[in-house]
Amino acid sequence: MNLLTFDKISTLSRATTNCPFLSRTKQTTLRSLCTATSARYPSLNKLSVQATRCPVMGPQLTVRAQETVAGYASMAGNNTADVEQIHKAQGISVPEGATVEMCPHAAAARAAARRAEDLAAATKTSAAEATGCPFHAKAGAKAADTGAFDYDKFFVDELEKKHKDKSYRYFNNINRLAKRNPIAHMAEVEDEVQVWCSNDYLGMGDNPVVLETMHRVLDKYGHGAGGTRNIAGNGALHLQLEEELAALHRKPAALVFTSCYVANDATLATLGSKLPGCVIFSDKMNHASMIEGIRHSKTEKVIWEHNDLVDLENKLKKYPKETPKIIAFESVYSMCGSIAPIREICDLAEKYGAITFLDEVHAVGLYGPRGAGVAEHLDYDVHKAAGTSPDPIPGTVMDRIDIITGTLGKSYGAIGGYIAGSDDFVDLIRSYAPGFIFTTSLPPASVAGAQAAVVYQKDYVGDRQLKQVNVRHVKRRLAELDIPVVPGTSHIVPVFVGDAALAKAASDKLLVEHDIYVQSINYPTVARGEERLRVTVTPRHTLEQTDKLISALDTVFTELDIKRLEDWKACGGRAGVGAGTEALSPLWTDAQLIGAPQTLKTGEKRVVDAKGVISARSRFDRLLGRKMGPVEPHGSKSVLQRELFAGRRQSAASGMSV
Ligand SMILES: Cc1ncc(COP(=O)(O)O)c(C=O)c1O
Repeated sequence: MNLLTFDKISTLSRATTNCPFLSRTKQTTLRSLCTATSARYPSLNKLSVQATRCPVMGPQLTVRAQETVAGYASMAGNNTADVEQIHKAQGISVPEGATVEMCPHAAAARAAARRAEDLAAATKTSAAEATGCPFHAKAGAKAADTGAFDYDKFFVDELEKKHKDKSYRYFNNINRLAKRNPIAHMAEVEDEVQVWCSNDYLGMGDNPVVLETMHRVLDKYGHGAGGTRNIAGNGALHLQLEEELAALHRKPAALVFTSCYVANDATLATLGSKLPGCVIFSDKMNHASMIEGIRHSKTEKVIWEHNDLVDLENKLKKYPKETPKIIAFESVYSMCGSIAPIREICDLAEKYGAITFLDEVHAVGLYGPRGAGVAEHLDYDVHKAAGTSPDPIPGTVMDRIDIITGTLGKSYGAIGGYIAGSDDFVDLIRSYAPGFIFTTSLPPASVAGAQAAVVYQKDYVGDRQLKQVNVRHVKRRLAELDIPVVPGTSHIVPVFVGDAALAKAASDKLLVEHDIYVQSINYPTVARGEERLRVTVTPRHTLEQTDKLISALDTVFTELDIKRLEDWKACGGRAGVGAGTEALSPLWTDAQLIGAPQTLKTGEKRVVDAKGVISARSRFDRLLGRKMGPVEPHGSKSVLQRELFAGRRQSAASGMSV
């Protein structure tokens, strides 16, 4: 067999006839092993690593790898004339000062050498582990002989179930480039794509003042936090971030967790188990973190239909008013873009003696005059007028919500999650929640970067305005082409496909043929038959990039014969598509978008707001010293100086662009 590694499905098919494992194993499993990179040996896929354990395949792979490397070495070392000959034949003239990195043969030789090294290491490890070949009958005999549980078979069977119900997840290798957002490279650095599904909604992951702050903190305080909050991991930066978040939501206190998944899980589990006889009312479309938190609370759970106030009330009224109740819901539902009727839910909570738990994960940074979320947005002018005051504003929706949770990992471009609420509630969670107590706290630089992002967004409304402007533009263009979008009033653009295989095929086609990355969303994240491409539009996408996205989607819809809006209308609609609700008014009104920056065009720099930079820096004066002048996150002063000044010019010149 002439194999270097199992890189291609076609190579696999040939090997299948000779190998008892390959012939026994399902194509779907082989495909996933073949397309997944080994974490331990990055130049190999998982199937090749498995094959090093096979007495037949293992030596073949090693010998072939060594032969290939030797072939390259002899060509480069002894026969430079041959190399020149090849270059000539291929019409390649070697420019003055060319380096080895520029030569395709050298690159191929290096890749082959890497693979050979990894194969040798994997073979050595396999031999040391002496597990024998997992593919041959002998291995099966091991478990049978000893009577021990067959763990490998169990893992394979469980994975097979995922393949069968089409919920097995393939992760793309996407490396977003800080200086070229929204461009990313894939596994190969030359292989670039436009990212249209990142949750770094505002591009804060590479905002200059965020990066500058993180560099300064890294230099002063190092990388890791050094422990749990209880043991050496509770620094001034953690405390000031919590103060900032409490002020953002105009609540007395806030508590930071390693993620909002953990925040939701730990808070609901702790609260639900502590409150005597508690009943948790959970919206049917709540995120997994809340579902798990409720499960961990081991208390009674009642699910109400998504955003359905009548159903919620019918369920609430079955319990005495004195029974402790939590209504758990989200403001923006990220897979369909629907927005909860928050004010009305607060009314029901008051009427039936419940407390409210609102997840603003997909709304913080994006809604409200200061980016505090939808609850703030619903009283936009009142909150705008209150400016930087941290005090609660009685009667506002945000004030009526008891517990707000948010993430630092999406619009704020960082990592971490938090809860905000009353002093005693926050202290209770701090004191009892294992998910908060027994884990290393977030690194200082990440915490500071998150705070810089929160402050910047509190001060500068332009990014979230421009995001909405761009979202409107994309939705309008899709509507013109009759491409179906699940109707909604938020920033989410769920392009509806309605079939799992087609959604995956559309995502693959966009990536492979158009260099556009939009992840397909399938069951169990959405119901079967409601599969979609979840497009996220950011302020950093240019007009030209949008043109490319729209035209690529149009082409892919045609080529795959995916239903358009008219088709859904004709069959009565699905998931709100084609059901006559397309013309919903966005949550951000035209008036709230006055003064938005212009959509970027190719080559234009994003706006970096000078006032936002100054505010963000001011929070770190005490710990890091006063910082003045242009932002310099990478030491490349001139570039960022230009960005800052370009930002000022554009801010000044910006007008309404809806
Ligand atoms: C609604 C919702 N809540 C919570 C989370 C978890 O947030 P984090 O990514 O900070 O863990 C997510 C993540 O996608 C989410 O969509």
